[in-house]
Amino acid sequence: MRIAMIASEAAPFIKTGGLGDVLQALPDELARIPGNQVALFLPYYKSIKNNPLLEVELLTSFTVNLTWRQQYVGLFRLKPRPDKPEVYFVDNEYYFCRDGIYGFYDDGERFAYFAKAVLACMNWLELDPEIIHCHDWQTGLVPVYLDAEFRTCFPTTKTVFTIHNVEYQGKTGPEFFNEVLGLDDFWRGVCSYEGCINFMKAAIVRANLVTTVSETYAKELKYPYFAHGLAGILAARGENLRGITNGIDVTGYDPATDKALEKNYTADSFADKQADKRALQRELGLEESDAPILSMVTRLASHKGIDILCYILRRLLERKIQLVIVGTGEAKYEHTLQAVANDYPGKFSMNLRFDSALASRVYAGSDIYLMPSKSEPCGLSQLIAMHYGTVPVVNATGGLKDTVLPFNPETGEGRGYTFQSYNGDDFLGAIDRALGDYYENHDAWVELAKNDMRADFSWELPAQKYMELYHSVL
Ligand code: GLC
Repeated sequence: MRIAMIASEAAPFIKTGGLGDVLQALPDELARIPGNQVALFLPYYKSIKNNPLLEVELLTSFTVNLTWRQQYVGLFRLKPRPDKPEVYFVDNEYYFCRDGIYGFYDDGERFAYFAKAVLACMNWLELDPEIIHCHDWQTGLVPVYLDAEFRTCFPTTKTVFTIHNVEYQGKTGPEFFNEVLGLDDFWRGVCSYEGCINFMKAAIVRANLVTTVSETYAKELKYPYFAHGLAGILAARGENLRGITNGIDVTGYDPATDKALEKNYTADSFADKQADKRALQRELGLEESDAPILSMVTRLASHKGIDILCYILRRLLERKIQLVIVGTGEAKYEHTLQAVANDYPGKFSMNLRFDSALASRVYAGSDIYLMPSKSEPCGLSQLIAMHYGTVPVVNATGGLKDTVLPFNPETGEGRGYTFQSYNGDDFLGAIDRALGDYYENHDAWVELAKNDMRADFSWELPAQKYMELYHSVL
């Protein structure tokens, strides 16, 4: 099958979050399936352009129009890598050669341009994809421009649009339609929602199929609490809104080979994880005790549950535990967490930075991983934690609900500890249940952690599910 993936980020080229991880692993896995030809399109951001390790060639250049604007398009191709997808970069220095990749006053114009430019590039390449798979609002106008201006070039191509996070929808003022998009009036209704131009809404309405990154989130998205204003639009897609739970790159995140660790281990050599715990305690100035280390590697944002964490924090620290947090984010949380950490030296280590090697050592060196997100489309950290034998405590929402089934000490089934309604006391209750098993039922605990390590979180199954979906839409 010929598949074109379009996104605003993909590791290892450019990544700000989970989207970047998915856009690395999913195209790689799809390209491994015999008979598939996968092409990935990304903006040629400054940091990609300046990366000396990437060998690229310029294939062509031309211009596209956004009403009166005639904008340059340079099409670059990454030197082909065996068994990997083709990667194309869309070059326009005015739009993409900036410090950072999102958060500019003209993001709407930048990604409207990108949508149109990618379609023009595919046409030049004579790719004729059977499936165009777009991700998040930045690519929301692809299904629109495809039908409005490129149908004759791609008469039978179908579109799939994946929502990684409905919170960011790509909204601009209504004048954007005339000033930038330059489409027939029919499309004004498609692109408009509640007085704005809304890229994500347009994609939800126009894509042949809409998906999101877990089965539970696909259900949740039909309710106002989760849908950030789009519940009605999403519910109207009925069975054409599907959930496929993400995997993780199990070779990239592997405690058996991870070079950042003090000592590598597998489920069969689980006792070696203890060496990583001791090393982490030394590195972060924690007491070298046998108390369980609870950890989080997270953005410090309220939807990640940092508000309820702050609410229970001092009570939690009265327990026989240690706590490690790695991440940056909203100033109020940075201040609160740092202030409490200062009161608990040797017990609570707050690391206001992002450092992927430290993150690996935290996943490996800790015992319990906390993820109390208010909502979570899929979540990747809980999967990484389990893969490193660190048992998760999560709010049972979205992908957390699908991937962390509650542990039943009687039968040994399940993967972690969950709470059902978003509040601090229930969160602390779930942590207490985990601590109860850790201290009083330690053999069962070790089995739980080993089972988590053995679970299959690879992309193999999700990639097959995407293939089935693509076939169903064709
Ligand atoms: C977004 C979501 C996260 C998901 C990721 C990849 O970052 O917030 O839950 O895992 O996308 O799909």
